[in-house]
Amino acid sequence: MKPKKMLIWLNWFYFLEINQYELYKRQQQESKDDYIKKVLDKFATIEKEHAKKIKKEITNLGGTPTKMGNGLGRLLGSTAGSLTSLTGTVNLFRINLTLERRAIKDYRRLIKYTDSKKLQKLLWSNLIEEDLHHSWFAHQKEELQDQIKSQHNITES
Ligand SMILES: [Fe+2]
Ligand SMILES: [Fe+2]
Repeated sequence: MKPKKMLIWLNWFYFLEINQYELYKRQQQESKDDYIKKVLDKFATIEKEHAKKIKKEITNLGGTPTKMGNGLGRLLGSTAGSLTSLTGTVNLFRINLTLERRAIKDYRRLIKYTDSKKLQKLLWSNLIEEDLHHSWFAHQKEELQDQIKSQHNITES
């Protein structure tokens, strides 16, 4: 892959990672649940690490990391409802799942397109962590949906 095309790819990941970092950080601040707060904080740290590693790759290739990312996290975090209710949390986790899925899909694509073993190693490492995030959000969303259902059942009976 030509360096110019690679830089476009890497800048896309940088954008995605920065936004995921901002999104989870914001959600962490808004959440009232201690466990969810801790997990989101941990995830935000991991996304920040991903962004850092991608940034390094960009500079190594002689590129400049574009900071166009700022804002999406804030926008998604504020328009989708707050983390103070179970339903709000489920909705936010849906957005997180979409972003994680997108990252997984694109990391897989770039791994195929690059011949650099070093870069592939980095991409795999990020991809596996996105996979773990995705699993956690998916599982947690189901748990919360069950809780919502049982609350409805209690109020109905
Ligand atoms: Fe990430
Ligand atoms: Fe992630």
